[in-house]
Amino acid sequence: MPGGAVQVRIDVLTLFPGMFGTPFAEGIVRKAVEDGLVDLRTHPLRHWAEGRHAVTDDYVFGGGPGMVLRAEPVFAAVRQLQSEGAGRLILLTPQGRRFDQAVAERLAGEEGLLFLCGRYEGIDERVRLAFRPEELSLGDFVLSGGEIAAMAVIDAVVRLVPGVLEAEAVAAESFSTGLLEGPHYTRPRVLEGLAVPEVLLSGDHAAIRRWRRREALRRTWRNRPELLAGAALTAADRVLLSEVIFEESQRSREGEG
Ligand SMILES: C[S@@+](CC[C@H](N)C(=O)[O-])C[C@H]1O[C@@H](n2cnc3c(N)ncnc32)[C@H](O)[C@@H]1O
Repeated sequence: MPGGAVQVRIDVLTLFPGMFGTPFAEGIVRKAVEDGLVDLRTHPLRHWAEGRHAVTDDYVFGGGPGMVLRAEPVFAAVRQLQSEGAGRLILLTPQGRRFDQAVAERLAGEEGLLFLCGRYEGIDERVRLAFRPEELSLGDFVLSGGEIAAMAVIDAVVRLVPGVLEAEAVAAESFSTGLLEGPHYTRPRVLEGLAVPEVLLSGDHAAIRRWRRREALRRTWRNRPELLAGAALTAADRVLLSEVIFEESQRSREGEG
């Protein structure tokens, strides 16, 4: 059921549009589309390839293994889609800037995004030279194609589009605050001797907030200490953090780790 005006149009240009079926047919992305907040379209690149066989790849000039995605279908597709309202071009590539929450937040504020998924050895360099796309990488590893990377980026962006999730839920999530989020519990209150921390059952909202902040600091210090340098910490946070570090060093000295 439509729930609001379209906030962002997302187009995906890919050799394998079928890959996007299930991920976009479930959960938050599906709901955002159904609510009319996100206009999501996948386009088969083959549609813009000329000739009876609609060939999209070719040999590498200069020799070498593998094939390369041809530039002409991409040129034609990007020009047509952008003339019809698609947003700016984003190229998924392991050579791009590492995608993170800050990039997701920026992209969620755009009116339109057009994702181009590479395959084979990559895409003819003239696509990059002609369109100057934003280049995004999922991390320092090589996937077989840009589709899974595009899905990950789209999922992370869609949940930040205004109206898709409760603002409060998004604000507390890992990275949004510069810290990792602390742990969550649900029923039962005790499971195999493991009890839910008392404070969460106390109904004391100030104490719960303080506990959550402390555990977020603890988790960040344990798992990703480098994030603490860039996080905006208050004086109260610094006190909590020093308590956490003291507790943790006590525990590791006692071998509880
Ligand atoms: C096999 S990769 C090509 C790798 C390329 N030959 C290189 O060494 O940089 C094929 C396609 O997968 C996508 N891809 C692979 N790894 C990726 C990553 N870490 N992040 C985003 N896209 C990736 C890109 O679209 C790329 O064009």
